[in-house]
Amino acid sequence: MQKYYFVKINDLEVLINGVPLGDYAIHQCNSTGIQNFSLDESMVDSILGDRSYSGADLPIEVIEEVEAITESKENKTYHIYFDTQEDAKCLTDELDKMKIPFELESKVTQDWNEEWKKNFSPIKFEDEFEIIPAWFEDYNLTTNKHIYIYPGMGFGTGSHETTYLCIKLYLEWKDKKINNTCMDFGCGSGILGLIYKIYNPSANIDLYDIDQAALDNCMQNIELNNIESSTIRLLLPEQRNQFLPTYDLVFANILKNILIEEAKQILKLVNSGGCLIASGLLVGQEHDIISHYTYLDSSLILENILYKGDWVALRFTKKA
Ligand SMILES: C[S@@+](CC[C@H](N)C(=O)[O-])C[C@H]1O[C@@H](n2cnc3c(N)ncnc32)[C@H](O)[C@@H]1O
Repeated sequence: MQKYYFVKINDLEVLINGVPLGDYAIHQCNSTGIQNFSLDESMVDSILGDRSYSGADLPIEVIEEVEAITESKENKTYHIYFDTQEDAKCLTDELDKMKIPFELESKVTQDWNEEWKKNFSPIKFEDEFEIIPAWFEDYNLTTNKHIYIYPGMGFGTGSHETTYLCIKLYLEWKDKKINNTCMDFGCGSGILGLIYKIYNPSANIDLYDIDQAALDNCMQNIELNNIESSTIRLLLPEQRNQFLPTYDLVFANILKNILIEEAKQILKLVNSGGCLIASGLLVGQEHDIISHYTYLDSSLILENILYKGDWVALRFTKKA
């Protein structure tokens, strides 16, 4: 098993033989990198408290709050990494000579690819449908329909309650109405739009996200499932003018604040007679979404509310 070493230190500004400590570690002692650990997780938790944010959109005042703490000297901690004990000693010998306090630690290198795979296993939706992680090559299918998902940078393996609830609400609805077009608004891995595509192979699907990494992951999943891609579009915010006027089904698994911010846009996208599945809501938040959405569009009918753990999702239809 391979090990790596790191020196924990509070001050990078000190000079060793006239060279700043960080530069000395990298150029004289073959350090492989320096990481700033000025905030520990419990400190971040206490700043963020129970406030919930989606994606990377932290309000500016929260970022400033965090920065103010990182800038205070007593909270500064750096880890200086080395591949060998000998390289680490090159730095710690100098620190000893100068009586600069430090701690030396070593850790076993983890195979993160393998660790991360342990968290995903196939998910079965009654006898209807299965989601299978990409690396389960010899998996014995027990349903007629299934999708393989490669959980890359895009959220959405089916294991999270919010995705699971969307799929359940879709499976209940799928046979009832027309199914020619679908918008997956906040698509992540593309899981919801791609499941729709599996049930409706000739349908046109738009996968929309603010994050290019999510769309790259969608492409991986399209290829993984040999899905015919000419009828699937991957859209970023600058391509919103390419949205279709309306869709038969709109999935929106994004948090409450985004569902509120984007309410008018999302509602506009739902066809008369079409369906909206809204998710990403913590239990208790559903009431605000129901009242806001039905206030903005009086033709909206709430068809079902599903709960799982701390989460809740809603299925609406628009009167034809
Ligand atoms: C909870 S994930 C849902 C992923 C997938 N649809 C699923 O159900 O598993 C939310 C996704 O919405 C995206 N997102 C966040 N804010 C957004 C916004 N304002 N507009 C569109 N997408 C957004 C995020 O990048 C993320 O991929």
